[in-house]
Amino acid sequence: MSGTSLDGVDAALVEITAEKCRLIHAVFQPFDSELRHELLTLNQAGHNELLRSAITGNALATRYASAVQALLQETRLSASSISAIGCHGQTIRHRPDLGFTLQIGNAALLAELTGISVIADFRSRDIAAGGQGAPLVPAFHAATFQTKQHNRVIVNIGGISNLTWLPAAGDVTGFDCGPGNLLLDGWTQQHLGSPFDRDGAWAASGKLIPEFLQRMLEYPYFSAPPPKSTGRDMFHLEWLQTFLSSHYAPEDVQATLLELSAQVIANDMRRHCQETDEVYLCGGGGRNTSLRRRLAELLAPIPLTLTDELGIGTDWVEATAFAWLAYQTLHGLPGNLPEVTGAQGPRVLGAIYHA
Ligand SMILES: Nc1ncnc2c1ncn2[C@@H]1O[C@H](COP(=O)(O)OP(=O)(O)OP(=O)(O)O)[C@@H](O)[C@H]1O
Ligand SMILES: [Mg+2]
Repeated sequence: MSGTSLDGVDAALVEITAEKCRLIHAVFQPFDSELRHELLTLNQAGHNELLRSAITGNALATRYASAVQALLQETRLSASSISAIGCHGQTIRHRPDLGFTLQIGNAALLAELTGISVIADFRSRDIAAGGQGAPLVPAFHAATFQTKQHNRVIVNIGGISNLTWLPAAGDVTGFDCGPGNLLLDGWTQQHLGSPFDRDGAWAASGKLIPEFLQRMLEYPYFSAPPPKSTGRDMFHLEWLQTFLSSHYAPEDVQATLLELSAQVIANDMRRHCQETDEVYLCGGGGRNTSLRRRLAELLAPIPLTLTDELGIGTDWVEATAFAWLAYQTLHGLPGNLPEVTGAQGPRVLGAIYHA
C-alpha cells in the first residue's frame, strides 16, 4: 500500500481464511525525496507526463518488490508460500466524475520481480459500474471490525481522511471526509522543509484563525452528500492558496489546517453516524498527537481509541485491507460495498497477474 501522503510503502503479511484475517508482520519503507517529488508532480498535468508516469510506475514496482523482499526475509518465508500480493499502486489521478481513476506501479513487473501473483487496479471496476471507486476499505472494516454489540466508526487519517460507519444493525456507510495529512504535510514541507509536522508540534505552537477556517469549511465538498471520494485532484497547496491571506503567520495556518482536518471528520460523524458508541482511529494521522487530541475533544464524550485495540495497529490497517481485497478477488468474491461507493452492484475488483 502506498497512499496519498506519498510517505512510502506499507507492506503487510496477512493470513486470511473465510473466518479470520490475521496480521503476521509488516514493514514500512519510506520513499526518497526525489521519488516523492516526482509523484507529487505527476498528480498534476505536466510535460511528457505519459512517459514520466510509465518510468515512475516501474520505479514504484521495484520499491514494492523491495518491501515484499524485506517482509519475506524478516519472516523467513519463501515467495512460493505467498498466495498473492494485493497492490494498490500509487494514485496519480482520481476522477470518478470523468469515469476513471489511475494508479501506477506496473503490477506485471512486480510479479516478475517477486515471483508472486499480483492483484492490482482495484478501483476501476467499481467506477465502471457507476461507483466512486473509493473508499474500498469499508468492506474490509465491515468484515473485520463490525459487531452486533456497538455502533462503531473507523476513521482513517491518511493523506485524505475517510470514515466507515459500522452500526450494530443496518447498512454500513463510508466516504472520504476531506484533507487528512496532505495539506498539513504540504505546508510543513513548504515552510520547514520537512515532510511532516512530527506529533503536530508546529501546529500546536500556532493559533487558530477563525475566519480562515470558516471559509475553508464552506467549500462545497464538505457538505456534499455521500457517496463521495476525493484526492490530490481537489486538495493541494493551490487550493489552500485561494483561502490564504499574506498576513497569516505560517504556524497559525498550520494550527488552522489541523483544526480543519479534525472538524471535517467530527462534522461528518455528527451528520452521518447517529448514536456512535466508539470510534477507532488508524492511519499516520493517528500519530499526530495534536490532531488526535483535538479530534478526541470534538467527539467527546464518545471514546476515541486506536485500531490497535481491535488487533490491527494503526499503521497497518490500509495495507491489511488490500491483502483482504486481494483474497476476495482470488476467490471470485466482491470487494466493493455498493452502498458506500454508489456502484450499481457488488463487483469482483482488480486484475490478476499470475506468477
Ligand atoms: N509522528 C507523526 N506526527 C505527525 N504526523 C505523522 C506522524 N507519523 C506519521 N504522520 C503522518 O502520517 C502520514 C502517513 O500516513 P499514512 O501512511 O496513513 O497515509 P497514506 O500513505 O496517505 O495512506 P492511505 O492513503 O492509505 O490512507 C505522514 O505523511 C504524516 O503526515
Ligand atoms: Mg502511507
